[in-house]
Amino acid sequence: MKNNTRPETMKRIDNEEAAKIFIEEQIGELRAQIGSDRVLLALSGGVDSSVVAALLIKAVGDQLIGVHVNHGLMRKGESEQVISVFKDKFKADLIYLDETDRFLDKLKGIEDPEQKRKIIGSEFIEVFAEEARKHEGIKFLGQGTIYPDILESDGIKAHHNVGGLPEDLKFELVEPIRLLYKDEVRVVGKALGLPDAMVSRQPFPGPGLGVRCTGAITRNRLDALREADAILREEFEKAGLSGKVWQYFVVVPDFKTTGITNGKRTYEWPAIIRAVNTKDAMEATIEELPYELLKRLVNRITSEVSGLNRVLYDLTPKPPATIEFE
Ligand code: XMP
Repeated sequence: MKNNTRPETMKRIDNEEAAKIFIEEQIGELRAQIGSDRVLLALSGGVDSSVVAALLIKAVGDQLIGVHVNHGLMRKGESEQVISVFKDKFKADLIYLDETDRFLDKLKGIEDPEQKRKIIGSEFIEVFAEEARKHEGIKFLGQGTIYPDILESDGIKAHHNVGGLPEDLKFELVEPIRLLYKDEVRVVGKALGLPDAMVSRQPFPGPGLGVRCTGAITRNRLDALREADAILREEFEKAGLSGKVWQYFVVVPDFKTTGITNGKRTYEWPAIIRAVNTKDAMEATIEELPYELLKRLVNRITSEVSGLNRVLYDLTPKPPATIEFE
């Protein structure tokens, strides 16, 4: 029977040596659990599923079938990073499904945030299930469940994330990091050789940029959002703020304002900058960004991203605002 309670005697994994011991133990346990069967795993690019993938690769090699679904709402360069890390570096059998059109077509004209989430969640499960049915002899499903997910089964992840696989696909779960806290997962990830950008990645919601392109998503506005968000992340990296600020991102709302470029009137979207700190995402405070950084962001976003003519900085903590805009 699987143990879902962290034993009081379990030491914190806060250094490389402790991580290496954990990794060795897990490799043994995974081999014992999985034997010569096959395991399926959805790789989102997030730290939890990446660590599970790396552990599984070390334990059972090509018995792992990793699937990365690009729902078209990933940040710039994110799918490419998942592919290059796992396919090229870990030599894993990674299946890449670019389902951008499928998701964006389903989302066309849908304004309600919860309906958008439902569509993204259920479409994701359908894509994954379709892929799973193509493979014979899969007995296990890998999952990046971590200890806070077990403790807070009514928490944010459970609240937002929808449903499970259909009845015909009942796999036995493999959850090697279920007793770890987030900071421990990062230490293990580093010891497994995952790149820093992946290990120290800020939280990113399952529906991705979908909830930051408010209202009905359009491709143009989504592209503008992706570019502006990439600029923000690049500037945060240069300013030494990435890894320090809990979550920072751009939102492009579904309204336009007037502007002027080279003497010509424009009518385009604003980019909204949000940067917050929190312990558990239930309440959040604003990161007070240096004015020089803000000015650089205004400059770069308005000059480099087509479709954006204004930059706003959201100063609202949670509560009364949520971290995301939808
Ligand atoms: P809010 O906006 O509720 O966000 O203050 C709190 C935290 O939860 C993340 N979030 C989500 N994560 N699926 C997820 O996996 C979702 O639908 C979702 N919505 C919000 C958000 O990014 C923040 O870290």
